[in-house]
Parts: sequence; C-alpha cells; structure tokens
Amino acid sequence: MQSFDLIVVGAGAAGLFCAGMAGQGGLRVLLLDHAEKIAEKIRISGGGRCNFTNREASPANFLSENPHFCRSALARYSAQDFIGLVKRHGIGFHEKHKGQLFCDDSSEQIIQMLLRECEAGGVQRWQPCTVADVRPLGNGDFELDSSAGPLRTRRLVIATGGLSIPKIGASDWGLRLAERLGHRIVTPRPALVPLTFSAEDWAPFVELAGLSLPVYVSTGSSKQRGRFHEDLLFTHRGLSGPAILQISSYWQEGQALSLDLAPDTDLGQALLQAKSRSRKQLGNELADILPNRLAQAWLSRLGLSPSKPIAEAKDKELQELADKLQAWSLSPNGSEGWRKAEVMRGGVDTRDLSSQSLESKKLPGLHFIGEVVDVTGWLGGYNFQWAWSSAAACATAA
Ligand code: FDA
Repeated sequence: MQSFDLIVVGAGAAGLFCAGMAGQGGLRVLLLDHAEKIAEKIRISGGGRCNFTNREASPANFLSENPHFCRSALARYSAQDFIGLVKRHGIGFHEKHKGQLFCDDSSEQIIQMLLRECEAGGVQRWQPCTVADVRPLGNGDFELDSSAGPLRTRRLVIATGGLSIPKIGASDWGLRLAERLGHRIVTPRPALVPLTFSAEDWAPFVELAGLSLPVYVSTGSSKQRGRFHEDLLFTHRGLSGPAILQISSYWQEGQALSLDLAPDTDLGQALLQAKSRSRKQLGNELADILPNRLAQAWLSRLGLSPSKPIAEAKDKELQELADKLQAWSLSPNGSEGWRKAEVMRGGVDTRDLSSQSLESKKLPGLHFIGEVVDVTGWLGGYNFQWAWSSAAACATAA
C-alpha cells in the first residue's frame, strides 16, 4: 500500500492549486483525477482565455446559505495574491469588464502554471484514476481503494467540483461521499445558466432571438436578492446573456424576474415629453430608446399601433407602456440545466466545515474545497478566485 501525507481527489482548479501549495510546504502529495484530461473547465473558461480572477472580489460577490463563510479564505488568499502568482509566471493578462482579468493568450497558460507549481512541490499526479471507496480509519488516517491500488493518507482533500457539463468529467462523487460520511448537503442547482419559458409565454418573443440590450434585472427572496445591470440576450427558448446568467443564481422555481428594459431612463417622462414636441410615429419614437425589433414587439403585444403619431397617444397609454417596459415581470419555467450551466449552486453545507481550513467538523483530516462546497461566485472570475482561496486555506492548514 502506498502512503501519502495528503491525497487530493480532483485535478481541476482547486485541486491543482492545493496540491502544489501543500507539496511546496513539504508534504508528500498525490493528486488524482478520473478524467483522461485534467482541468477541462479551466481550458474552456472565459472563451478559452480564462477569466482567472476579479480584481474586486469580495464576500459580497458570493452566494451561500452562509454568506460569511467565504470571508476568511478570501481575506487570507486574495485576488491580489493570485495576480502576483500569474505575474511571477510571466503570463500576460488584461482587464475586460468590471475587474475581470483574462489571459492575453490562452487559458492553457494557467493550467501550465498550476502544473509547474505542482512539479515544484514534487506532487505525484495520476490520471485517469478512480476511487471506489474511502474508509476513515479510527486513528484519523484514510484508506482509499483506487483503480491504481490501495492508498493510505493522513489528510484527504475532495476537490471534485460541481455538476455542470457532465460530458467533461463532472460527477456527484464528492457530494455522495460527503453525505455518506455524515455531512449535510445544500441541494445542488444549475447556476450561471440561461433561463427558459413555456412555449406559450415565449411565442411573442421568439422572433427577437439574437437581440441584445443592457437592462436591470432583479429577483430573489428578502434573504438573498440579486440585482444586476448587464446585457440581456433573447434566445429561441428564453433569455441569456450576462444579466440572466447572474440572476439565474438567485432565481428559485416559481419566482418572477423583474426587468427594466430602459435602464437609467425615466421612460414615462421621455415619452410624454416626446408627445409634446415630436411629430414622429410612436414606433419610431420608441425605437430611439429601445432596439427597433423590441419596440415593435412590445407595441404589438400591447395592441398599440406603431404608426400612430405619438402626439395622438393618450398620456395614460404612454405611461402604461413605460411602466410595462421598465418593470417587465416574467416567470421562467426552468433553466437550460447542467448541460449549459457554468457552475453549481449548493453543495457541501458550510455548517459542517471550518471556514479557516475547509476541514470537516464531522471527520478531522477530511477537507472539501472549490465548487463542491456551498459557495458560488458571480460571473466574472469569482468562481476561480474561490477555488484558489479555498485551496490555499486548506493547503496552509494541512
Ligand atoms: P473543477 O471542475 O475545475 O475540477 C474538478 C475536477 O475533479 C475535474 O478535473 C474532474 O475531472 C475531477 N473529478 C470529478 N469527479 C471525480 C471523481 N469521482 N474522481 C476523480 N476526479 C473527479 N469561473 C471563473 O471564475 N471564470 C471563468 O472564466 C469561468 N468560465 C467557465 C466557463 C465554463 C463553460 C464553465 C463550465 C465554468 C466556468 N467557470 C469560470 C467556473 C469554473 O470553471 C469552476 O468554478 C472551477 O473550475 C471550479 O474549480 P474546482 O476545482 O472546484 O472544480
């Protein structure tokens, strides 16, 4: 039987980073993954350029049943720390939008950086390698039945990620193990995912597929309410774009979304002013504020003629139109699911983990890091930052 100080299951963002750091701290580390190709989510992230962190990352950018849980790990290994590492490896990067940092060339550079860090720590890496069983031994050690033979370790780190995109290696193994070993699980749900509507509700908007515009979107309960100012994208089955991906993490089945299609404008005021000075038709006037196709679709939906001169429209009619466009309430019937979700919401319940070390309170020596934990970041580099921060907290404690 081979023995290690620390075994990490899952060679994705969190697992690679934790293994390298623990190895460099002097531990004998084994990193294993069931996939042929490791770190696939890093490879495909950020359109191939990996949005590896966000300059502004703070606990306010994360969702969890316990929103304070991420505080300690993020404070002790921050976005600035990871940026420092990227710079030390000579990787060029740039800021795109709201603090989001991307590689200039390719996400492969982040993978190679993490592999170099593992090499520097003398980490052994086996893949593909599966683990059929994990047995906690009474003395704090763990025994694993792996496809490469029996293994023994002092510490076991589960970094198997979330459930999104099953075809590139996502599995519920980490969640099932956590549950079997006595941990509570916050129900996993697809997050950062396009939302869908019933065919009947969506029929008036199908023609708008491909149209994009900036909006405010909000939803949620009083406990966790989200509001974002981002671009919205109409699709054949519903809504997507950054605004919807962001709000999808807050959306619960049965809740409505509220959309303001003319953000930072008093549309009622603008239409009434236009009425008093303009000779244009209502459709043309509205198309000065909204994309033309959207303006036409809304007018026909409300039974208003686009060719009617705005000067002949009733004030009440214009105000109602403005109210509908600035507080469009609509109820998704679901999401595009794990196939399209960027991340999982929910996971191992943080009540059963230490926020300092990500170690189990039920079973000392066992840690959960990265996306398998009930901490989910916004779109924009926050999920990788959680992977780095939680991995560092675990490696430092180990
Ligand atoms: P990750 O998924 O990276 O790694 C888990 C590893 O565990 C995988 O290698 C898997 O093969 C392995 N594994 C699973 N089950 C196993 C088992 N039973 N046995 C052994 N190994 C097992 N985030 C961000 O901040 N910026 C971005 O630009 C993007 N972009 C993006 C695009 C797309 C398309 C997706 C799907 C996701 C993103 N993300 C993102 C999210 C980000 O990729 C994600 O949050 C992190 O990769 C999570 O890191 P983990 O290490 O926890 O899991």
